[in-house]
Amino acid sequence: MPSLVIGTKSKKPARSRKKKISAALKKISNEHIPVSREKTEDLASRDKGSLVARKALERSEKSFRALAEHAPDIIARFDKDFRHLYVNRQAEKVLGISRENIIGRTHSELGYPDYLVDLWQKKIVDVFLKKEKMTIEFAVLVHSGDRYFESSLVPELNEQGEVESVLALTRDITHFKETEKRISDLNTRLKAQAKDLENINQELESFTYAVSHDLRAPIRSIKGFTEAIQQDFLSELPDKAKDYLRRANRAAHKMSQLIDSLLELSREGRKEVQTGRVNLSSLARDFLAELRNSQPERKSEFVIEEGLEVRGDSRLLEIALQNLLRNAWKFTMGRSPARIEFGVKNEKDKRIFFVRDNGVGFDMSYAGKLFVPFQRLHSASEFPGAGVGLSTVKRIMRKHNGRIWAESQEGKGATFYFSIGAEENDDGGR
Ligand SMILES: Nc1ncnc2c1ncn2[C@@H]1O[C@H](COP(=O)(O)OP(=O)(O)O)[C@@H](O)[C@H]1O
Ligand SMILES: [Mg+2]
Repeated sequence: MPSLVIGTKSKKPARSRKKKISAALKKISNEHIPVSREKTEDLASRDKGSLVARKALERSEKSFRALAEHAPDIIARFDKDFRHLYVNRQAEKVLGISRENIIGRTHSELGYPDYLVDLWQKKIVDVFLKKEKMTIEFAVLVHSGDRYFESSLVPELNEQGEVESVLALTRDITHFKETEKRISDLNTRLKAQAKDLENINQELESFTYAVSHDLRAPIRSIKGFTEAIQQDFLSELPDKAKDYLRRANRAAHKMSQLIDSLLELSREGRKEVQTGRVNLSSLARDFLAELRNSQPERKSEFVIEEGLEVRGDSRLLEIALQNLLRNAWKFTMGRSPARIEFGVKNEKDKRIFFVRDNGVGFDMSYAGKLFVPFQRLHSASEFPGAGVGLSTVKRIMRKHNGRIWAESQEGKGATFYFSIGAEENDDGGR
């Protein structure tokens, strides 16, 4: 009630408030409670009401018409005989026909090709029968090439709930289709390029394998003959020659180790991934036990989180894990006890496994070299090795869509982290 609103909000003195209330009441009674001229006023107001409603309807129709006329899409209305009842300006523009020549005509009378006439008629019949919105997509050949359209056909119901006409909203989706095609062409090209790269990679792998394999025999013979000379003619040789021989033998030995590592590296690269369940915890436990047995004099402490399973290639993952654990064992050489930990931490739904040790660690500014073949951050005299272990691990991780990285501080141990991306598409390993 308006009077109440006045009463609660006003801060004016009571008398003036009362005056306002009575004025408002009077206004309401004048407007709404006619006493003597009830009938005539009633009729007049009804007329006035319908006039207002008609005006509102006209206004709304006008604005909808303006919307339809200025819409960037083609809008048309069809009767059950497929005749155009209405088309908007965009339809005239796209068809190149004025609306006087469109209205009352069917697609066939407008010279549409048969396949389009059939498509439209079939869908219009469907909408009439099913009373449901439908969509169609079609291509039209114009002088500049194919143009693609998408139409939504909407049933328009009368008061009895029957379909009286079908409203069709048609959008030119040529641009979208072209983009879609460009993306798909690009994808095809990318796939072809990836295949090429894979082939080249495989050729390289085979080359490395063949070369390293063929180098083995000559190196073996250098090693063998230098050793034979040392054994058979040692007493006849001057000291200088003995020294040269020893050096030549050592170099041949080192070279044979490098070749073995190269072979190992290329062998891993050539292997196909065979996916299955892999229990990393038990692999770690078994291998650490082996390491402990190999040097029983060392004091060591292992912490292994149990039950860590992933999906992947068991053989490859075993090689990767062994490399990490062997490094942890090697670079904790002087520690007593050596402490090696294998565990997992969860980060954003992703499991990150880690191998942590309390060994000599490394300088993080050289971390970029860790996974490069034959790069080592420690001298061979201090810690023997060829420097291919971590590159092999990295390859194996890549084959599993995974990642490997490390954190360390010199003298304070190192932690190697890895995640296996391949299992993201798979819930078997969780
Ligand atoms: N746990 C570790 N602690 C400290 N340094 C490490 C560790 N693991 C690897 N590294 C560094 O990374 C280098 C490369 O490792 P890797 O490829 O396994 O070769 P290798 O074990 O033959 O030296 C090592 O020489 C060492 O400098
Ligand atoms: Mg190693």
